[in-house]
Order: sequence, then structure tokens, then C-alpha cells
Amino acid sequence: MKIFAIANQKGGVGKTTTAVNLAASLVAAGQKVLLVDLDPQGNATMGSGINKREIAHGIYHVLLGLKEVEKVVRFSESGQYDLLPANRDLAGAEVELVDGVGREMRLRNALEKLKSRYDFALIDCPPALNLLAVNALTAADAVMIPMQCEYYALEGVSDLVNTIRKIRSKLNPRLEIQGLLRTMYNTNSTLAQQVSDQLKNHFGDKVYDTVIPRNVRLAEAPSYGQPVTVYDATSKGAHAYHALAKEILQRLNTQKKE
Ligand SMILES: Nc1ncnc2c1ncn2[C@@H]1O[C@H](COP(=O)(O)OP(=O)(O)O)[C@@H](O)[C@H]1O
Ligand SMILES: [Mg+2]
Repeated sequence: MKIFAIANQKGGVGKTTTAVNLAASLVAAGQKVLLVDLDPQGNATMGSGINKREIAHGIYHVLLGLKEVEKVVRFSESGQYDLLPANRDLAGAEVELVDGVGREMRLRNALEKLKSRYDFALIDCPPALNLLAVNALTAADAVMIPMQCEYYALEGVSDLVNTIRKIRSKLNPRLEIQGLLRTMYNTNSTLAQQVSDQLKNHFGDKVYDTVIPRNVRLAEAPSYGQPVTVYDATSKGAHAYHALAKEILQRLNTQKKE
């Protein structure tokens, strides 16, 4: 099982949209996928068609050791993947875990128990570099960084890269950057082009070739509890996430051969 943390401490950059739609697209490409909602807002849970107000147990209970991870897994009908759901309870984990033993390792240990069941686990991170995000980065093999090509976007990314370095030296030496994903991309914008060029200068082929265009279908789909690939399979958004899944699978394949 490959574990990807989808992270960026900035909110509204497309983390959850990427988590839900990449999960569904990997399933469409024949992969077994677990989506982990690690944001107390529970947007990935709702976007997967599971009502966060009706879940008795979520990832919070797993992190606190109150419930076995196997018992918390739910199936998303619309996405055809498994989900570890979240709701507001999770906001308390930050405080309640402060004195906990191995508090950074809770998610890693939980996912370890599921690793024979899936090809991929995607972790939808909160918009912060807090203990939840540290749990995600400690559990992950690699980080996917969704970002909008705007002013200051690069500064935010370099804070994240510094955090990744720290996690690598202290908690998780194998942590890599899987790739940087340009989201809500407007091909006609000069600024987007410039930031895009800078990004490629800094990160080279870590920048995915696939870009996710701004597409209203992607913004509408969550209110139906569906990935865009189900909500509107012919939309640009759906095509883009299928292309991303393909690109990621190809990259992993070439890495294996090298
Ligand atoms: N490519 C896109 N095109 C149009 N709207 C998008 C796109 N990606 C995300 N959105 C919308 O932008 C908002 C923020 O995206 P979201 O994935 O929730 O970001 P994050 O999880 O990083 O906070 C949401 O309302 C979402 O529906
Ligand atoms: Mg989110």
C-alpha cells in the first residue's frame, strides 16, 4: 500500500477536491483505495456521500485509541472506495493527544493494520501544519501538494517543504514529495504561467504534467456527495483527475523499473 498525504497548510487550494476525485479515479483505474479524512471539517467525508453528522465513530476514535481502525472504515457508494470518516470531534484530538505516547505515530500505526487491503491510502490533510498534519506526514510514503498558481503560493510551499525536511529527519526518513499539482488552473492567465515556470525551476519534474482546470462541476459535485467522475463523467474536471491518476500510476511504474 502506497500512502500519500495530500497536504498544503493553505486552505482552499484543492486538497479535498483532489483527495476525493483522485481516490475515485484510482478506483476507476482498477486500484483498491482507502481515503482518510483528517480534517475536522469533514469535507472529504461529505463529498464521499457519507453524512459527517451521522457517523458514530471516526478517525478521531482511532487516533485516541478508542476504536479499532477496521471498525471505523466505511464504504463510499458513490466513489467505490473505503473511507475513514471525520467530523468535528477530530478538532479535539489536537489537544487530547498532546500528552499521548507516540502521539505523532497514531495514524501510521493504524494504517499499518490495513496495508494488505489496499493499493493506495490518500490522506486529506487539514489546512494547518498541526499535530494532525504531522500524523499524516509520519504515516505517508509521499506528499502530494495541490496549489493554486498565485502570488505567494511558492512561499507557502517552501514552508511545507521545510516541515517535510524536519519530519524526514525526526520521524519518517522515507518521506518523499510525490508531486506538486496545479489546481484551478487558468491557461490564459499570465500570472499562472509565470508561477508555473517558477515552480518547474524549483521542483523540476516533481511538478505533475497534468493540471486541474477551474471547472464548476468540480465545485458542484460535493453537494451531491459524489466525485466529479460520477456527477459529470464527461466534464473537464473528471478528465483531469483521470489523467492525474494515470500519470501517478505511470510514475510509480517507471520508479519500480529503475
Ligand atoms: N479545479 C477546481 N475548479 C473549480 N472549483 C474548485 C476546483 N478545485 C476546488 N474547487 C473548489 O474550491 C474550494 C476549495 O477547494 P477544496 O478542495 O475544498 O480545498 P482545500 O481542501 O484545500 O481547502 C471548494 O469550494 C471546491 O469545490
Ligand atoms: Mg479540505
